[in-house]
Amino acid sequence: MTGSDFAAWMAAIQERTEAALARFLPEPGIAPQRLHEAMRYAVLGGGKRVRPLLCHAAGALTGADPQRLDVAACAVEMIHAYSLVHDDLPCMDDDTLRRGKPTCHVEFDEATALLVGDSLQSQAFLLFGEHRICDDPARQLEAVRILAQAAGSRGMAGGQAMDIAGTGKNLSLQELELMHIHKTGALIRAAVLLGTHCGVPLREDETEQLDHFAKCVGLLFQVVDDILDESASTATLGKTAGKDAAQNKATYVSLLGIARARELAGELRERAEAALAPFGDTGRRLRELTDFIVTRKF
Ligand code: IPE
Ligand code: IPE
Ligand code: MG
Ligand code: MG
Ligand code: MG
Repeated sequence: MTGSDFAAWMAAIQERTEAALARFLPEPGIAPQRLHEAMRYAVLGGGKRVRPLLCHAAGALTGADPQRLDVAACAVEMIHAYSLVHDDLPCMDDDTLRRGKPTCHVEFDEATALLVGDSLQSQAFLLFGEHRICDDPARQLEAVRILAQAAGSRGMAGGQAMDIAGTGKNLSLQELELMHIHKTGALIRAAVLLGTHCGVPLREDETEQLDHFAKCVGLLFQVVDDILDESASTATLGKTAGKDAAQNKATYVSLLGIARARELAGELRERAEAALAPFGDTGRRLRELTDFIVTRKF
């Protein structure tokens, strides 16, 4: 299959995700208007939608219904958007630019940005309360557990705590990996698992294989984010470049240097792609997405 076929598939998923998010978010005219406006500002009209893309690509392995995948994809993307709004707050990374626009707290105010995060998190779980993604109620509940674990203190929020605690410190490679696996890997993994969860259950060995892929690609995503922070421009990234070094963040680049970080990204890509081998052609989109995650420019 050609690259342009992938590009067209990606554009189609991004478009349907944008439309689904716009549908699933409260209308801006409903009170409290300013909060709803800020929620839409934080979620709509930007972002690569990597997690929804992974969700749809993984859903292809289990023959999942695309409309059910939209629900799972939007739930993960809402948690992700909330994590970005809070990540940018002055008490966290103190960033003023996100997705090429002023960050939520700059465009609105800090209190609104805090509440946008809170509300997006609730909205994500509300989706699972309002829309069926599995026929079996026990499986529907399992989806809530997967997302809750990935978002909370043993997932993204826990990773963010490790990030803050590790700032200005020399973390070991093991500590750095643990932080990345949590702050970014957990939600990426959830996107993959929830995608397959919407369809016919995989065999146990297939689930293990896919989970290994999801873990590799989750870590890979943040390694590449660290590399881009160091090597790309603010204009290309749509967020302030060079922030990690300026803020003394513990990253793969600060620990290993950019050349070794790139090598590691290559190794993780190989491990991720090897994990997809048993899925044959049905894993094609996941393979293409792994390539995209490594070669992306922003
Ligand atoms: C940025 O994520 C934050 C990390 C978890 C590394 P993305 O690079 O997926 O950001 P958007 O959604 O495309 O803006
Ligand atoms: C953020 O990591 C991970 C999140 C949970 C949002 P970064 O702080 O490196 O993300 P960017 O570079 O600001 O997008
Ligand atoms: Mg951060
Ligand atoms: Mg940040
Ligand atoms: Mg970063």
